[in-house]
Amino acid sequence: MRRTLGRAAAGFAAATLALTGLAACSAEREGTTGGESAAAEETIVGIAMPTRSLERWNNDGDHLKALLEEAGYKVSLQYADNKVEQQITQIQNMVNEGADILVVASIDGTALAPVLADAKAKDATVIAYDRLINGTPDVDYYATFDNELVGTLQGQFIEEQLGLKDGEGPFNLEPFAGSPDDNNAKFFFKGAWDVLLPYVESGQLVVPSGKSPASVDEWTSIGIQGWESAKAQSEMENRLNSFYQDKKVNVVLSPNDSLALGIAQALESAGYAPGAEYPVITGQDADLANTKNILADKQSMSVWKDTRTLGNQVAKMVDSIVAGEEPEVNDTETYDNGEKVVPSFLLEPQVVTKDDVESALVESGFFDASELGL
Ligand code: GAL
Repeated sequence: MRRTLGRAAAGFAAATLALTGLAACSAEREGTTGGESAAAEETIVGIAMPTRSLERWNNDGDHLKALLEEAGYKVSLQYADNKVEQQITQIQNMVNEGADILVVASIDGTALAPVLADAKAKDATVIAYDRLINGTPDVDYYATFDNELVGTLQGQFIEEQLGLKDGEGPFNLEPFAGSPDDNNAKFFFKGAWDVLLPYVESGQLVVPSGKSPASVDEWTSIGIQGWESAKAQSEMENRLNSFYQDKKVNVVLSPNDSLALGIAQALESAGYAPGAEYPVITGQDADLANTKNILADKQSMSVWKDTRTLGNQVAKMVDSIVAGEEPEVNDTETYDNGEKVVPSFLLEPQVVTKDDVESALVESGFFDASELGL
């Protein structure tokens, strides 16, 4: 499944949108560089993505590459199979090949300081993509979605679904957090736990497995390395076998869709089936398999982040940098990477439930109806 121009295998709607999106974006960018520009053709952009095994990064990479090549940039797009050393080597190669701009979605945001120091020594500009890069002054801009809001939306969804504000409960909750090396995972968990922890403390939410961080700072204690579905599945199976012989899970806080997929699989193997007894399960990214699960009542929601809008924003940043202008940012406070507060552009995430799939995901061309069996 790809969300890029030229592969409009998807329905006319999706292709049209991709075209209009791309055309609109280059029209927007035309405001700065007027489509293919001499400057663009002399500029090399290196794009480093974490892995192809997590669905969204394929969309991110392909869309951004298509946009930049459309504008005349020379683009190198690399995926690092979630291996930190491989990503460092890929970025080093981009630097050695004369990349002027690096767009990096880091695997481990704390591991890139040396290679970015070399990039800076060679006058490259560095944009952190979706995930912040930490512990270095050599990152210039950051473009992402409002990561804490993602978690807040998941926490509020649970609060609303269970009627927690009205004093309902107790309910059995099992919380999960993202990959311990991912800077975003901390923000996702903080957003959700700030909403849910008071209910854990009041007893309206109970965590039979005991995997309940006493504070946000302890989030890595329930982190799933690499955001792997299989690891989430076996963790959930362990919790079900050990703590749910005589009770039911009522709600699972899953920070993203790849984990939610494994969790739903574990529940299914343990005999849970969609219906009144099925737990509330959260997610993020609106991956295809999870969107099908939402339609089949095996997942309750996903926080959708339209990766095309992030690609469009980064393409605008690249244009501004090449034009010698300051890229547009809308947050110069939140993202302190330990060395500096990185000027950032935050985009809005949105909740998608069964009722929103058509209007949000199909009508916008993110999915073609046939992909979802609609
Ligand atoms: C996060 C990203 C999420 C999710 C996760 C696993 O950093 O913001 O959208 O995809 O990684 O890839």
